[in-house]
Amino acid sequence: MDFAIILVVTVAACFALRNPLKACPTAFYAAAILVDAVYVYGVFFGLPRALWSPLFVLIQKCELALALFVVVMFIGCLKAGTRPYRWLKPVRSELSIVAWFLALGHMAVYLESYVPRIFGGSEVSSNVLGSFALAIVLLLLLVVLGVTSFAFVKKHMSTATWKKVQKLAYPFFALVYVHVLLMLLPSALHGGAAAQASVAVYSVVFIGYGLCRVGRALLDAQDARAHERVAAAPTVQDELDAVFE
Ligand code: HEM
Repeated sequence: MDFAIILVVTVAACFALRNPLKACPTAFYAAAILVDAVYVYGVFFGLPRALWSPLFVLIQKCELALALFVVVMFIGCLKAGTRPYRWLKPVRSELSIVAWFLALGHMAVYLESYVPRIFGGSEVSSNVLGSFALAIVLLLLLVVLGVTSFAFVKKHMSTATWKKVQKLAYPFFALVYVHVLLMLLPSALHGGAAAQASVAVYSVVFIGYGLCRVGRALLDAQDARAHERVAAAPTVQDELDAVFE
């Protein structure tokens, strides 16, 4: 349930902080790294409750990074040329880099707990093994997407290759949903009310995104066909030329 609130606040913050983010993205990257560092410090050495509680929800549960990824993905559902699209599209890469940094804390801490279980020699259930394999795929996709979001990396790639690589965001986002379900469904199916509420909220967001994205693709294709028809239609000049030929 916290995720619904975090998402609303994140959307508002993305709109409000768009100009400072565009002007000085490195300050936001540095802030995200600092938050990760404080979180990792808290994991090992503890922190006052007032500081740890928000970090637990935002970083350990990966909810802030996910909320930012949701904004990044939904930008692709907006109609090109509308005000929200023109406002947020230029900071899409910057938003995904901030999300990328914020997701590192979650991944590092859980990978650290998986590794001894998997490679420690004891018997590992197929469930844990499957979750671990999926986590590794998520990690690899995130590294590729994150690294290619930086402007200096993008500059060294052809536009066609860069666009192809960025399409990996779709399987990445779909697999995050699978990952979240794998983590929460067992508890939700055993009657855990918090897990059930979380599954419901995440499902609305991910399935809603899927529907919006397909809707946008269909509408864009319709617009493109209409433009082609207008471009192919004879102009007044063509018709006059035909009359006097
Ligand atoms: C190396 C990659 C990853 C590993 C090892 C990993 C591990 C885990 C684990 C163990 C949990 C269960 C936590 C619990 O029982 O409370 C979890 C939950 C979760 N993970 Fe990941 N994860 C990874 C990548 C990601 C990514 C890339 C995202 C999203 C951007 C993500 C989002 C979430 C979310 C939203 C939850 C559920 C939190 C909740 O509402 O309780 N994870 N992850």
